[in-house]
Amino acid sequence: MTTQGALRDDLLDPELNHDPWPFFARLREEDPVHYSPAHRAWIVTRYDDVVEALGHPALSSDRVRPLLDALTPENRAKAGGVMAQMAEWMVVTDPPAHTRLRRLATNAFHPRKVVAMEGRIRELVDGYLDSFIASGEQDLIAAFTFPLPATLISELIGAPSEDADRFKDWSNDLALVAFGAGGEGRDDRHALAERSIAEMFEYFGVLIEKARREPGEDMISDLIAGDGTEENLTDDEIRSMCALMLFAGHETTTTTITSAVKLLIDHPDQLELVRADPKLSGKAVEESLRVEGAIKILHRWVIEDFELRGKTIRKGDRVLVSPAAANRDPEKFPDPDRFLITRSPNAHVAFGKGVHACIGAMLARIEMRVAIARIVERLPGLRYAEGAAEPTWVPSLAARALTELRIEHDATL
Ligand code: HEM
Repeated sequence: MTTQGALRDDLLDPELNHDPWPFFARLREEDPVHYSPAHRAWIVTRYDDVVEALGHPALSSDRVRPLLDALTPENRAKAGGVMAQMAEWMVVTDPPAHTRLRRLATNAFHPRKVVAMEGRIRELVDGYLDSFIASGEQDLIAAFTFPLPATLISELIGAPSEDADRFKDWSNDLALVAFGAGGEGRDDRHALAERSIAEMFEYFGVLIEKARREPGEDMISDLIAGDGTEENLTDDEIRSMCALMLFAGHETTTTTITSAVKLLIDHPDQLELVRADPKLSGKAVEESLRVEGAIKILHRWVIEDFELRGKTIRKGDRVLVSPAAANRDPEKFPDPDRFLITRSPNAHVAFGKGVHACIGAMLARIEMRVAIARIVERLPGLRYAEGAAEPTWVPSLAARALTELRIEHDATL
């Protein structure tokens, strides 16, 4: 980059964390495959390059194990337990191990099953909106967008609904480590996550036993049944898969529904479009995923030298692939910073691309579409709460998540 000396490229810098968009625009324009001294990693920002990188065999997702291997004995004592569990998650494996895990998980997300969940999703959305309205609570995250996905995932997995609160707590503790969501100040975060993983594993063990005795329509029963080959998941792999689903499907969905509501409040003309035609809520969700998708950065390790846009990226380097930057690439999306719910086509990469592309995308889309349609329909006069501070974003390299969203409306029960 010609002006590299002047570039502040630490994505955790509070200003860049708050508003990364001018920085991403500059990288896309001037140095689309940029070596960042701050992160000691490459940052990839153009749409075509992001798609190529996410499909390239030289870029490995097996990124927890190398970190685990490199821990000092002291850090291993603190963080090794959680990291060893997370290293088993399919999202951090490469083919062929990934291919097997993904194939065996696919059954649980059969489109027929996911579509059949819409009625229950509506009930949950309306139930949480009832309590949100009745409580007079202002923070939409605390009362609605956080509990909703946790409850849905607990039901998807096959847990009794009265245990949904435990899923929320576990998810919180996992996010502290996996997303750094608690901030660096949380010295006890590895201990909390490790305790939660241990509790979860014990809990899922009981559910597995029950599903073996009485198979149901839930994910654990599907994972036990396998795909008819001899290669079924072991009980430990099923537990690990359930923990991954809770982690991968919770915060991302919370975040995207929250961001969508913020975007609609910020763009009253677009909010009016959805109010006039609730069928547009699906398109509003797609545009929110594009403009403020939940994932800013996906990490990859380089396992073989390769070239991208004339730069040689060496084995052992780290690459930060940015779906968020790709989703505002003007080469792909005209007027990319504009939130325009009728945008078509809208081939964003908020759910990733390649073999790891989100397995829960269809479920997330239904959940978010129903949530946005019902929020717009049931909360007339939707606006920021009086005196609410400007919304702030969780300090995070990987995630794009609001800390809270305080709103008011004119609804009564
Ligand atoms: C708005 C909501 C969501 C967003 C933005 C999102 C985004 C993503 C992205 C970007 C990836 C790719 C990760 C990578 O390449 O390293 C991914 C993978 C994954 N997602 Fe989602 N996700 C969402 C909802 C869900 C839900 C609801 C579930 C399940 C209940 C889920 C389960 C998973 C799993 C298991 C993977 C790993 C797939 C694999 O490794 O093959 N996600 N997601």
